[in-house]
This record gives sequence, C-alpha cells and structure tokens, in this order.
Amino acid sequence: MSPALSIRGLTKRYDDTRADRRRGRDKRAEAPGAGGFLAVEDLDLEVAAGSFFGLLGPNGAGKTTIISAVCNLIRLTAGEIGVFGLRHDAMEARRLVGLAEQDVNLDRFLDVEETLLYHGGYFGMCRAEARRRAGEMMDVFDLRAKAGVRAPKLSGGMRRRLLLARALMHEPRLVILDEPTAGVDFELRLELWRYIRRLHDQGTTILLTTHYLEEADELCEDIALIRGGHLIARDSADGLREAYDADSLADAYVRAMGAAPTA
Ligand SMILES: Nc1ncnc2c1ncn2[C@@H]1O[C@H](COP(=O)(O)OP(=O)(O)O)[C@@H](O)[C@H]1O
Ligand SMILES: [Mg+2]
Repeated sequence: MSPALSIRGLTKRYDDTRADRRRGRDKRAEAPGAGGFLAVEDLDLEVAAGSFFGLLGPNGAGKTTIISAVCNLIRLTAGEIGVFGLRHDAMEARRLVGLAEQDVNLDRFLDVEETLLYHGGYFGMCRAEARRRAGEMMDVFDLRAKAGVRAPKLSGGMRRRLLLARALMHEPRLVILDEPTAGVDFELRLELWRYIRRLHDQGTTILLTTHYLEEADELCEDIALIRGGHLIARDSADGLREAYDADSLADAYVRAMGAAPTA
C-alpha cells in the first residue's frame, strides 16, 4: 500500500522580507545568494498508512511549515510530496487530507453547523450528505446544543472541538493535527485523545504535532524529531529512549536536540 505521506527533498524558503529582518541574525538567512528564510531543508519523511505519527521539535523547527506544504497552503521551494500515492496538489489528494491548524481559524460569521456545512461543500459533498455528516460531527464532539452559535461566542474548548470536527467533516484518510492540545485544559485534552484514538482505531492515519512529550509517548507509534528544518531522529518512543540511553521520551528528546548541530 502507498504510504499516507511521502515527502522527498522538501525545501521551503520563505521570501517574506519582514520575516527575514526579524531573523536577521540567523546565519543561513545571511548566506551569500540565499534570500529569504530557510525553514525546511531537503527533508525526507515517510508516514505509513494507518500509523499514528508524531512530529516533534521546538518552536520554529519547521513542523507547521511541513504541514502547510502537505496541505497546499504554501508553495514548495523544492521537493515532492505524495499523499497515498497521489501528487499532494491533485484535487483527489486534497480530499484525502483533513487539517486542524495550529491557529484556531474559524470564520467569525458562521455558526457551528454552517462552519461544518461550508467545509463539506468545499470538498464537494452534496447538501444532504453534508447535513448528515455535520449532525454526526456535532454529536461526536458534543456541539449539538451550539449548532446555531457563531465562533466568537464559543468557549475555547468548543472552538478546539469544532476545529477537529471541521477537519473530519469530509472523512479524510489522513488527519493532521497541529498542536491540537496546546493550551487545552486537562479534561479536554483527555477527551481529544479519546476522539483521536478512536479515529486511529478506525484506520485513519494520524499526524500529530505536540510539545507534550507524554502525549506523544502515549499516542504515537512512530516519532520524528526535527530541528532547524532537519530530521534528527525517527523511531518509536522505545527506540528513541534506547538510542539516546534515556529513561523517558523527554530525556531522549533533550539529548537528541542537544546532540544535533545548531543551525
Ligand atoms: N510566513 C513566514 N514567513 C517567514 N518565515 C516564516 C513564516 N512562517 C514560518 N516562518 C519561520 O520558519 C521557521 C519554521 O516555522 P514553523 O514551521 O512555524 O515552526 P514550528 O511549527 O515547528 O514551530 C521559523 O523560524 C518561523 O519563524
Ligand atoms: Mg507550528
């Protein structure tokens, strides 16, 4: 079976000049002939279909950039991305991926149900099917009572749940969750874990980024550590502990990051 995700030689250089100035001290940004900011460089990564994959690394490592490249939100500088064997920019491939972005980007003028219906429409679901699926999502994510409420009037937890419900609306085979539990209280975190686990049990491939190493340890079968736009290590949590002679994943992470050459 084709891997859920196959990334080859991914390079992303941001050309935004203001961002360049902010990062003016970065040596790579100052390299002769290299305009812009090099966020990801020549990265290869494969995610097996059906796996629960964790993408870990400090702020600025390039996690969101990789995800944005997969989801066609940014232009690649170089490289190729395959989604279940299809080019990532093919319409069919786009339909196979669901993304819950790191930033909660809900339309403030749409209520909960409309948010889901619009998303379904965007992915070509017919009205009846979108209605059915939106109802199902509102039940699963406990949002039924808020169907007519607009995003700004939802609590933070409800917004997070709606973000996930929206990502799942079109029944994607690969679900990408960019820090879904950042700033989320303990109970909601457990609840989100439960949803995500169930999805995975049903055969959905999950790509998760998180800063909670115990979360990655608990959920992810396979973990990639990245830093400075490069892959540093790739293994199971047990494999990483062994490779870095560490007692916990957190220890392994710290050692891996410490051992990696700085940019
Ligand atoms: N639109 C942009 N323009 C310029 N630089 C950016 C942009 N988006 C991200 N970056 C930079 O690229 C690097 C990787 O960022 P990002 O992919 O968001 O990392 P992560 O998600 O791992 O925290 C960071 O140094 C970040 O500041
Ligand atoms: Mg990010």
